Amino acid sequence: MNTIRTATRTTLPRAKILQPRHGLMYMSSIRQHKVAVIAGDGVGIEVTASTLDVLRTIQKKVGGFELKFDELDYGSARYKAKGSYAPEGWVEDLRKNDVIFFGAVGDPEVPDHISLWDLILPMRQNFQQYVNVRPSKILPGIPARITNINSHKDLDWLIIRENTEGEYSGQGGRTHKNTPWEIATETSIFTRKGVERCLRFAFEQAQKRPKKFLTVVSKSNAQRYGLVLWDEVAEIVSKDYPDVKWDKMLVDAMTVRMVTKPTSLDTIVTTNLHGDILSDLAAGLSGSIGIAHSLSLDPTRKSPSLFEPVHGAAFDIMGKNLANPIAAIMSSAEMLRWLGEEKAAQIIEKACEKSIEKGQTTGDLGGKLKTTEVTEAVIKLLEDQ
Ligand code: NAI
Ligand code: MG
Repeated sequence: MNTIRTATRTTLPRAKILQPRHGLMYMSSIRQHKVAVIAGDGVGIEVTASTLDVLRTIQKKVGGFELKFDELDYGSARYKAKGSYAPEGWVEDLRKNDVIFFGAVGDPEVPDHISLWDLILPMRQNFQQYVNVRPSKILPGIPARITNINSHKDLDWLIIRENTEGEYSGQGGRTHKNTPWEIATETSIFTRKGVERCLRFAFEQAQKRPKKFLTVVSKSNAQRYGLVLWDEVAEIVSKDYPDVKWDKMLVDAMTVRMVTKPTSLDTIVTTNLHGDILSDLAAGLSGSIGIAHSLSLDPTRKSPSLFEPVHGAAFDIMGKNLANPIAAIMSSAEMLRWLGEEKAAQIIEKACEKSIEKGQTTGDLGGKLKTTEVTEAVIKLLEDQ
């Protein structure tokens, strides 16, 4: 059984009944989904190619729906050639899509804060993708990373990260640049509304999982304004979910608990920066960053949600056909689920799990296969189902 599947299948908001878009009448009963595809940079390009192969195969296999891909050149190559990551009007262009599939961004020749702030972070804010959901589980066939965490019975978490404000709200600046008295500020912003909507989402997810247990992570001893607000709002929101048990952790102690008492955790909610770090730790504990997938959701469905592997451009392995495509492929399964294509999502997830169980993996999971070989293995497994 796939926990990632259970984590999301039973918990995430369902797709609405599909309506014809903007006066377009469909003569056929084929469900059409517009997918903006931003492969981006580095291994993002490689794993996106794998994902598109898988999606084209599943579309043929399952039938009944059609994915209309709009492959966009947004990324660092464009930035280096034209001076911007995306063309003018990109927010409105992307908004015309039902969902966005994203590979990764980042280039050795471009400072990381430029690549992140020119594309990925504005996307999350413009489309109010206010939760980032990262399911984490040890899949069969994955070797234990530390001795007390061996199987999905020990580690099966749903991490929910606030995705539009907090430590990554983008407020701050630099004055007296390049002088010894230069000053730089980086302001965290916590709005009651932003905190509440994220916590509410987290309580709802916890309520739908068998353990009905939520851990709220903050650092409200040292950060005495924003994160005290965070804790206070958690208390208030919790009253609406009396069947959800919950506890609070400071983020530093949380890292220890994740390693030493993994079974004491289930659903986890935290701020933007802390969620970024804790979910990478979870990826490491559950096997590899190469299988960690994520959903950046606008739960109101007013704007397109975005699906992407957790990892970045991976400079050390890019262009070598070594990247694990599973994180990207699993992200695309969640994308199909979000679009209401549950059957297709499940088939892809099962194929990914089978490939890992059979040891058909890339080097990060101890295997010998290349990116394209893992992709072929997954495609074969899904065709056989
Ligand atoms: P990274 O995730 O790119 O790489 C960290 C380590 O994980 C590397 O050793 C890499 O080889 C390995 N790794 C990553 N993806 C893998 C895969 N699919 N299969 C096997 N191994 C994989 O993080 P790093 O090195 O901190 O960042 C590199 C660049 O990516 C930077 O420019 C950074 O800003 C950007 N980045 C972008 C993200 C995004 O687009 N959402 C997320 C994280 C980083
Ligand atoms: Mg990260």
